[in-house]
Amino acid sequence: MEKREQIYEGKAKKVFASDDADIVIVSYKDDATALDGLKKGIITGKGAINNRMTNNLMRRLEAAGIPTHYVKELNDRETAVKKVTILPLEVIIRNISAGHFASRYGVEEGIVFDEPTIEFSYKNDDLHDPLLNDHHILALKLCTKEELELVKSYAFRINELLKGYMKDIGIDLVDFKLEFGKTPDGQIVLADEISPDTCRLWDSMTHDHLDKDRFRRDLGGAEEAYIEVITRLMEEK
Ligand code: TMP
Ligand code: ASP
Repeated sequence: MEKREQIYEGKAKKVFASDDADIVIVSYKDDATALDGLKKGIITGKGAINNRMTNNLMRRLEAAGIPTHYVKELNDRETAVKKVTILPLEVIIRNISAGHFASRYGVEEGIVFDEPTIEFSYKNDDLHDPLLNDHHILALKLCTKEELELVKSYAFRINELLKGYMKDIGIDLVDFKLEFGKTPDGQIVLADEISPDTCRLWDSMTHDHLDKDRFRRDLGGAEEAYIEVITRLMEEK
């Protein structure tokens, strides 16, 4: 697979065209942002870790029946994925209260929910990713009703699978963000990444934060936390 021109640069990844019109190459950066892009930094080694972790999890999800954009890992920080149109939705699943759930609703962090929650935000930096309910999504025509139902059912199934993978390596999956894309033939597939940037991962025993909250909250030890997660994941499989 040959890398061609850059077609997009986001906060944590670049996307390049390839010699295959149906495939693009994602390149993971070490750059980290938080607070709507206001806080900027580098987590050394993060790009390679997020690349490997995302691919490991997407391969397992695919084998469990979840369609994903994953095609092939090319090197340390680059992966070939199907070219899709990303639905402008951030799909957030929560199992335990933390972050914006805790601050928005005035509750402490660490409350284990009886059932997972789902919420959506509009992927739009200028508007600061406002929250959306199902009716808003349909009014804005961000996807069809059928696509929304599919996204929700995939998201809850992915949660059950990921919770299990993490439990096996001594980690509680607190919450996470997913993005979905649409292939040229209209199939909805899981896209973007699944990494400590996009998940809250707490050590099951110590409740240590093994994720980007170490950077967001200036806790220190972000590099070590990312290495801890990828090491446990790679030893497992
Ligand atoms: P929140 O508590 O800040 O809403 O975050 C919920 C989860 O979503 C958390 O695991 C981090 C992830 N997330 C992203 O991946 N990107 C984002 O822009 C935001 C706000 C959250
Ligand atoms: N990466 C996002 C931003 O820069 C938010 C986050 O992950 O906290 O706004």
